[in-house]
Amino acid sequence: MLKEIVLKNRNVREIILEMAEIAGYLWERGWAEQNAGNISVNITDILNRENLQIPDGSMVPFPEKKKYALGGNVFIMTGTGTRMRDLARNPEENICIIRIDNSGKGYSHLCRCRETSILQPTSELPTHLTIHEMLLKKDPARKILVHTHATELIALTQIPGMQSEKALNRVLQGMHPETVIFVPEGMGFVPYTLPGTAKIAQLTCKQLETHPVVMWEKHGVFATGKTVSEAFDAIDLLSKSAQIYFYSRQAGIEPEGLTEEQIAEIRKNYGKG
Ligand code: 13P
Ligand code: ZN
Repeated sequence: MLKEIVLKNRNVREIILEMAEIAGYLWERGWAEQNAGNISVNITDILNRENLQIPDGSMVPFPEKKKYALGGNVFIMTGTGTRMRDLARNPEENICIIRIDNSGKGYSHLCRCRETSILQPTSELPTHLTIHEMLLKKDPARKILVHTHATELIALTQIPGMQSEKALNRVLQGMHPETVIFVPEGMGFVPYTLPGTAKIAQLTCKQLETHPVVMWEKHGVFATGKTVSEAFDAIDLLSKSAQIYFYSRQAGIEPEGLTEEQIAEIRKNYGKG
């Protein structure tokens, strides 16, 4: 019954289809080996609450007595261990829909999307929920989070001297004017931290308060957006810059990059100066 209500909601369906479309692009880009990456969407506002009989589902408590200010919020998430290429083909079998308990101390599964078993949410759940908690307070229009292993960007963080926000953005913004125009804040940067932990959640959340995308050193990227496509576009754009950098290096040159003056001119002309 709940499954019918949630999955047949036209707006929810559209989001699931967009998740599937973008999951296919992540796979095609080579950023989604095995189960790499995860996506979450806060769908609380788009569910018609009157039609939604929320049951007292059995609550899965968050580890270490963690409490999120997200009581009653509902999320679509990729299941842990699922493949983006499978999500692209068969979205319903590779997502779970969870509702945060009113106490904020755990979650319950809103519906059994996969017939045979209940999928557990992504192992990066602490990061997703910590960021959604912040976005709800500071920028509620941004309801989407995408984590992916964007190869070109990860490779940049393997280069000594490139492991800082300043160094990364200087290179990326110098490779293409569009990067300056569309990601004027540049990328945030989180030094290597164990995935799936409260620590990486806190560090990432802080960076996403002021950036649309964050680089996880030697691991991947985390992006926010109003739509799944918007989050993907920002990663795609930054990745293009990284590719130009590596193509130049492969051709045997250290790329010149745009000058400080050229970058300032772009910012001035596109109202970001
Ligand atoms: P999940 O399969 O648990 O989402 O993990 C993928 C990943 O990229 C972890 O950083
Ligand atoms: Zn990852």
